[in-house]
Amino acid sequence: MIAKTSPEIGGMGHSIKRKEDSRFIQGKGNYVDDVHLPGMVFGHMVRSPYAHARLKSINTEKAKELPGVLAVITGEDLAKANLAWMPTLFFDKQMVLATGKVLFQAQEVAFVVAQDQYTAADAAELVEVEYEELPVLVDPHKATDPGSPILREDREEKSNHIFHWEVGDKAATDKAFQSAPVKASLHAISQRCHPAPLETCGCVADFNRATEKLTVYLTSQAPHAHRTLFSLVGGIPEQNIRVVSPDIGGGFGNKVPIYPGYVCAVVASLTLGLPVKWIETRSENLQSTGFARDYHMTAEIAADQNGKVKALRVKTLADHGAFNAAAQPTKFPAGLFSMCTGSYDFAESFCEVDGVYTNKAPGGIAYRCSFRITEAAYLIERVVDILASQLKIDPAELRRRNFIQPDQFPYKTPLGWTYDSGNYEGALNKALEMVGYAQLRKEQEEKRKKGELMGIGISSFTEAVGAGPAHTFDIAGIKMFDSAEIRVHPTGKAICRMGTKSQGQGHETTYAQIVAQELGIPASDVIVEEGDTDTAPYGLGTYASRSTPTSGAATAMAARKIRDKAKKIAAHLLECSEEDLEWEPGKFFVKGAPSKSKSIQEIAFAAYTNIPAGLEAGLEAVNYYDPPNLTFPFGTYICVVDIDKGTGEIKVRRFVAVDDCGNVINPMIVQGQIHGGLTEGLAIAFMQLIDYDENGNVQGGSFMDYLIPTAVETPHWETGSTCTPSPHHPFGAKGVGESPNVGSPAAFVNAVVDALSHLGVKHIDMPITPWKVWNVLKEKGVVS
Ligand code: CDP
Repeated sequence: MIAKTSPEIGGMGHSIKRKEDSRFIQGKGNYVDDVHLPGMVFGHMVRSPYAHARLKSINTEKAKELPGVLAVITGEDLAKANLAWMPTLFFDKQMVLATGKVLFQAQEVAFVVAQDQYTAADAAELVEVEYEELPVLVDPHKATDPGSPILREDREEKSNHIFHWEVGDKAATDKAFQSAPVKASLHAISQRCHPAPLETCGCVADFNRATEKLTVYLTSQAPHAHRTLFSLVGGIPEQNIRVVSPDIGGGFGNKVPIYPGYVCAVVASLTLGLPVKWIETRSENLQSTGFARDYHMTAEIAADQNGKVKALRVKTLADHGAFNAAAQPTKFPAGLFSMCTGSYDFAESFCEVDGVYTNKAPGGIAYRCSFRITEAAYLIERVVDILASQLKIDPAELRRRNFIQPDQFPYKTPLGWTYDSGNYEGALNKALEMVGYAQLRKEQEEKRKKGELMGIGISSFTEAVGAGPAHTFDIAGIKMFDSAEIRVHPTGKAICRMGTKSQGQGHETTYAQIVAQELGIPASDVIVEEGDTDTAPYGLGTYASRSTPTSGAATAMAARKIRDKAKKIAAHLLECSEEDLEWEPGKFFVKGAPSKSKSIQEIAFAAYTNIPAGLEAGLEAVNYYDPPNLTFPFGTYICVVDIDKGTGEIKVRRFVAVDDCGNVINPMIVQGQIHGGLTEGLAIAFMQLIDYDENGNVQGGSFMDYLIPTAVETPHWETGSTCTPSPHHPFGAKGVGESPNVGSPAAFVNAVVDALSHLGVKHIDMPITPWKVWNVLKEKGVVS
């Protein structure tokens, strides 16, 4: 396979080679914030300082009087156009601009449009809003208490309860627990965190009154889905909407939902007939756009004395904030959380989840994960460690005793998923060998005798990526497939367009490699384009590692259609029958006579100049691929930590990551994905929390409080791989981008708990800060 070097592996953007409307775009980059259109004006949000308050009045007069201000839009204005509320991605509705009351701090209250962003910001200060404070609900455990305020007065159900969802066989699971000699349990919080992409969310909405065409430059991970939603909600004919998603500075799930700022910019552009730019500040991004996690989980395992697991019981409370804007496209309210049986062969399982409203920003997005799998993987990998510790069985050995075995695939889990392929012990063994496990355990024993704190944490996770299939996955009813269109030019060069949208994952390189592999056209002769709804075939976008399993597969299938046609042309050129031809990447040749051949470039030229009778001219194909199943990548991660007794400081000394994503297209890009995901996993385990005080004030609303790891905090990642191809993917690949974020938090936490387990420590919730560890050490009498 021919690899092109890619400058953006594991990074953010810098990827589209094409100049998007270069007539208009000035500046160095190709980001939404680099879009400058003639006559462009700027929008700025007025936001609520309160988490729960009734809106008594909004006075926009002073703001409107400021020179340079063009419009101030309020919820009441939007209500007149029936746009005050918009549907969320999970069958709820969300205020675009507040009407009646506000439900979380930093909620959007009014939208000011001015000739420059400074005037817009100044005018926003002049909008006078009178609030009447209401009691605030922050703790999800109190959401259904009789004394708690009812937050959503717009709903018929006068309750903060959103949903109850259960899956599995409750009676059989309970029975297994009754007879089990060993039970292990854990209560753990997968804390509210935020993807914090490098570029915040934003857009430039440009409605042209002459053509009646709306172009929206959007930080979008799913441009086509957004175009359809704009059309359905705003009533603009879909053919008149063009969504362009250029480089978006990372997404990580944050750029899947539609946010009020996008809607307000579109409304303002429609009203004024001018292009309107709205770009969030960093604090606005952290405080108001899609958060992730906030799952409060209990897991219990029933097992025998040898550590063989029998049943798993999981109960979870999900805090969805003020509106249920979970960005997960399954019919299951908790997405893929029922993947919580992980890599283990449980005979029985039962899982239930309740979702509630609180006075917090809405969301529940898939932050570098497949729709709640990160929470599930963390839970199972933590509770398996607790079982091992309880039975005094080595955690690697306990996992080995319980893994689903290679000959059990395809494997149906008790909660309804069918895993395609796996070899969990293979990945575990490789990771143990790479890290030198036996030696490390000896070292730990020695260190404990000397009173030093060292821990080893293992996580043997299973992921599920590649949404669709269409029978289980949809966004607002739009089935989840994905697409690729390949056009081979007369000179044998090609252009490919996909329905996915790279945010720095290097699709421009890897899709070109797939074409090279399938057609023998050098990758450097292939241009890859994504993110423009006027040109790309319809697709559902990029998140949850779905690109390789869907559009990657579609690319191979489209290339194969082209190869089938190329064969007919080659037979015509070589004056033989198709049956006499053999293929090797780049050419067809006559069986037994390799010198009688036609290269793909010669065939491409003939496709436009010398076509056999009855065949259409040209060499192009499109494929819409609906995957038959998800793909199930997996791996084992091992983390080694040293803890400073005096300060509680945790040093990650080693981190070995063995990943299996089936056949790899580009090892360097995959390694970059793993490095990036591990760094985000490290941040979640040790640094990041979007917290609220009792009045609903956001505590993690800037990078002073919401910490981002730098090179100083980031350890050296040691990566390895095994290869277990997916049996149903056209070239045996599975997705990989999310795996390191899904698998790593448990490895970090297991390592810290392992370092402290001899002191009787069973669990510490993330983020495990030095302060938390120091307090544990104090409580245990290690420090005074
Ligand atoms: O959907 P997203 O691009 O985030 O995730 P992915 O499908 O896991 O792919 C991430 C990057 O890794 C892409 O450039 C893929 O083509 C590449 N990759 C690969 O080279 N081999 C694989 N088996 C899986 C992904």
